[in-house]
Amino acid sequence: MSGESETTRNVEHVAIIMDGNGRWATRRGLPRLVGHRRGAERVREIVDLCPDIGVKYLTLYAFSTENWKRAEAEVAGLMSLFRRYILKEAKKLDANGVRVRFIGDRTRLDRKLIDLMASLEEKTAGNDHLNLTIALNYGGRDELTRAVRLLAEDAAEGRIAPADITEDSIGYFLDTRYLPDPDLIIRTSGERRVSNFLLWQAAYSEYEFVPTLWPDFTAGEFAEVVAGYSGRDRRFGAASA
Ligand code: IPE
Ligand code: IPE
Ligand code: MG
Repeated sequence: MSGESETTRNVEHVAIIMDGNGRWATRRGLPRLVGHRRGAERVREIVDLCPDIGVKYLTLYAFSTENWKRAEAEVAGLMSLFRRYILKEAKKLDANGVRVRFIGDRTRLDRKLIDLMASLEEKTAGNDHLNLTIALNYGGRDELTRAVRLLAEDAAEGRIAPADITEDSIGYFLDTRYLPDPDLIIRTSGERRVSNFLLWQAAYSEYEFVPTLWPDFTAGEFAEVVAGYSGRDRRFGAASA
């Protein structure tokens, strides 16, 4: 990348680490699952807003490969919330021109959920008003491990020479092969860490850490964060002006 016009870019792809549901509920003396349910409502508002503020790709971290470590009841409650979200939202998402896709390892999810995910992807495949990607049982290290395995199989069977492996060929084997890299990654709840989200894809992403807990993160605050980012100077390794 070189030249002044490349130093700033529109916010085409925003990814969000939706954190803080548990604390939101605990502070109110409520079960953690109530926080997760509230969080799902925030997803609706933000999805609706994205096309109005020029965001073409929205990627949401819903469940990490490490989240299985939580209590069985919380995991089961989250899985049931994901099923209900798909059942309830499918029609509206499709009517609004949202294309939904999922990233992450599906093999560990239950059959019913896997089928719902596949049918939502299929139903919305022709839409292009907004590309919504939901990361479910997603981990950046797991994704890279699966990609390396596939590349190693291709190499072992002579379909690719190790010397021909490029950044593009690695990108092709990632779950995100159809996505541009995220321009901006937002994490709510005040934690300032990546927690295994989009490790490869975030090489040049901007980060914004906001103290708001996810169930309190309104579409208005989201729009403010996105607007604040638009002026940042992204150099992609080139010298500053
Ligand atoms: C994020 O909220 C949702 C998931 C990880 C599924 P948390 O449940 O992590 O909320 P805190 O961090 O405990 O407050
Ligand atoms: C990251 O949040 C995963 C999701 C938001 C789905 P966590 O709450 O699981 O992350 P840690 O444990 O604080 O790093
Ligand atoms: Mg958390």
